[in-house]
Amino acid sequence: SKPVLGIFDSGVGGFSVYKKIKEVSTANCVYYGDCARAPYGNREESEIQSFIKDDITFLKDEGVTHFVNACNSMSVVTTDTLLKECKVDSAKYTDMIRAFDAHASFGVEDKVLVMATVATIRSGIYQEVLSAKGVAVFEYVYKDLAGLIETNAKQEDILTLIEEGMKYAVEVSATHIVYGCTH
Ligand code: DGL
Repeated sequence: SKPVLGIFDSGVGGFSVYKKIKEVSTANCVYYGDCARAPYGNREESEIQSFIKDDITFLKDEGVTHFVNACNSMSVVTTDTLLKECKVDSAKYTDMIRAFDAHASFGVEDKVLVMATVATIRSGIYQEVLSAKGVAVFEYVYKDLAGLIETNAKQEDILTLIEEGMKYAVEVSATHIVYGCTH
């Protein structure tokens, strides 16, 4: 059957990933956001994993053959075992953390601040991947940011929240920020 690329997220955030893929490829794409249950980022790991199964089942029913998981909160809890349970060939799957690990590089003096949802920071995966790249790592949780974006909150409220995190970036003299969230 014809390859169909399924790009998915808890909601609207992963649309940035969809747009980028459309820019650089001619792949036949389907975008799916689970807006009814977004955001995922404050949920327990097991609940996010069961949502991933639902999302992948939905995409398969739509004829999707290849997967890009555009949600960091999902990516960090997507194990190879989970992919096997979903009968997804890992060669036909990528996500934010797998792509980041494969492509991001830093200098040894760099201080990298990871900013992400509760689930993503709690998993410690970005911190692990960055430490393995030899840099100093800092972390910051944006607990309500995805929710505000998902509910179309006022721009000024969103900016106020973002600013808090930026103050922390200055405080730790971060040389790089990894915004580990598509929202
Ligand atoms: N877009 C998701 C991510 O990249 C976060 C939104 C959520 O909490 O569901 O982590």
